[in-house]
Amino acid sequence: MKISVCGKGGSGKSTVVALLADEARSRGYQVLVVDSDESNAGLFRMLGFSQPPVPLMEIVGGKKKIISTLRDPSSSDIAPKAVVLTQDSIAIEDIPAENMVERDNLRLVSVGKILQALEGCACPFGVLSREFLKRLTVKDNELVIVDMEAGVEHFGRGVEESVDSVLIVVEPSFESLELAGRINSLANGTGIKNVSAILNKVPSDDIASKLEAELVKRSIRVIGCIHHDPELFDSGLEGGALRTGRAAEEIIGVLDSVLSKANV
Ligand SMILES: Nc1ncnc2c1ncn2[C@@H]1O[C@H](COP(=O)(O)OP(=O)(O)OP(=O)(O)O)[C@@H](O)[C@H]1O
Ligand SMILES: [Mg+2]
Repeated sequence: MKISVCGKGGSGKSTVVALLADEARSRGYQVLVVDSDESNAGLFRMLGFSQPPVPLMEIVGGKKKIISTLRDPSSSDIAPKAVVLTQDSIAIEDIPAENMVERDNLRLVSVGKILQALEGCACPFGVLSREFLKRLTVKDNELVIVDMEAGVEHFGRGVEESVDSVLIVVEPSFESLELAGRINSLANGTGIKNVSAILNKVPSDDIASKLEAELVKRSIRVIGCIHHDPELFDSGLEGGALRTGRAAEEIIGVLDSVLSKANV
């Protein structure tokens, strides 16, 4: 199963990805987290790794070569390590070791990061994310969780074409609710049936009820609520591995709900 975690900038997408990954890993799933956010570089730390994997974009030979690599897989011009990305089907174990960091049933791959000023448009990252996710084959005991970039541009790039579920992270703000509505429409337009929301950074049960009512008005099902968690907040400030208080328990039902939709 492939789950895309998306939502407004700063709403807690990466945090929710890390919480879900840890919960799934502890249940015995082989978890692959795909970092599809070309801007923020810290997901590896949140997941408890000391260094990031070499991005997939680097084995292709950079953004300029991605289109030709995917369009003409038989070309002799393809970087040898990039051949795996031209396969019709990519198993998790096919991913080159240098492009993955790994511990305790948890693996992380990264599509690529914007590193330089004026390096040009970010579309090639979207193309690589879309094609990689489309070709990635997932066994029953494997779970792929994608940390999307903020906003909705990835829908325009078709990155969600092959995902089974979209999980929208909603923080207590009008903008976040409005964006959830747009994501829901775009995901439905992509043909994804399993679209749901998780509330995050919620200060009180009263606010949770208000947010849920607003999402229901927008025809979005809410499958869980993560309250404001001071431990999460502190670990986010310190920049290390995610430390959780109440959030670790609150994510359990969210994963149950996501997994129960696996065969719908
Ligand atoms: N439930 C929570 N309680 C307290 N702090 C939280 C909670 N969820 C997230 N945070 C904090 O909010 C900040 C933003 O979270 P995170 O990086 O996960 O958001 P994001 O949506 O991935 O952001 P971006 O759009 O920049 O990728 C982090 O510092 C994180 O620690
Ligand atoms: Mg993030």
